[in-house]
Amino acid sequence: MDLMEAIKGRRSIRKYKPDPIPEEAFRTLIEAVRWAPSWANTQCWEVVVVKDPKVKSELATALTKTNPALLSITDAPIVIVLCGKKGVSGFKKGEAATVKGDWLMFDTGIAMQNLCLTAHSLGLGTVVVGMFDHKKVEEILGVPENAEVVAMTPLGYPATEGVTPKRKETSDFVFYEKFRS
Ligand SMILES: Cc1cc2nc3c(=O)[nH]c(=O)nc-3n(C[C@H](O)[C@H](O)[C@H](O)COP(=O)(O)O)c2cc1C
Repeated sequence: MDLMEAIKGRRSIRKYKPDPIPEEAFRTLIEAVRWAPSWANTQCWEVVVVKDPKVKSELATALTKTNPALLSITDAPIVIVLCGKKGVSGFKKGEAATVKGDWLMFDTGIAMQNLCLTAHSLGLGTVVVGMFDHKKVEEILGVPENAEVVAMTPLGYPATEGVTPKRKETSDFVFYEKFRS
């Protein structure tokens, strides 16, 4: 699949078929995460793959009832939870190298996009889910103190096509030489 076709055609998918994901497709997705760029190649991501229906149900309790992705957490055959090791990305000799502090959100975000685009190119659906009780998910998954949960995505074959939300015009956010000039 052409890259721009993948970027523009990927949609957030919130309804899934129960069909399992072929092992080879799954391995390709993990490779896509593996090859994501990261701060000084620190690769702070840690990926938890959840297939057990019982654990998926527990994860769903961390989402509010109003989260549109709620049912997809239990419906999809797999949920991938992206975590990040703290104090690695953006740090030099234990000190934050920039005012931004930890860049783990940034690096895991790129890794997530690699995963979502690759999934789309393989006919699989994803939706980045960030609105949930992170502490609760960390307890459910046994995430240690030196790491944190960032986001999760259900993964499976789409049962519906996603709707395409409008994007801003490029002229609304691209400026030359000075901010908003
Ligand atoms: C960081 C982040 C967090 C998100 N959290 C949620 C969420 O909790 N629930 C949900 O249904 N969608 C969530 N989304 C999906 C967005 O709503 C979706 O990407 C956006 O509406 C654009 O639609 P598209 O992905 O189909 O292009 C999230 C997306 C991002 C990037």
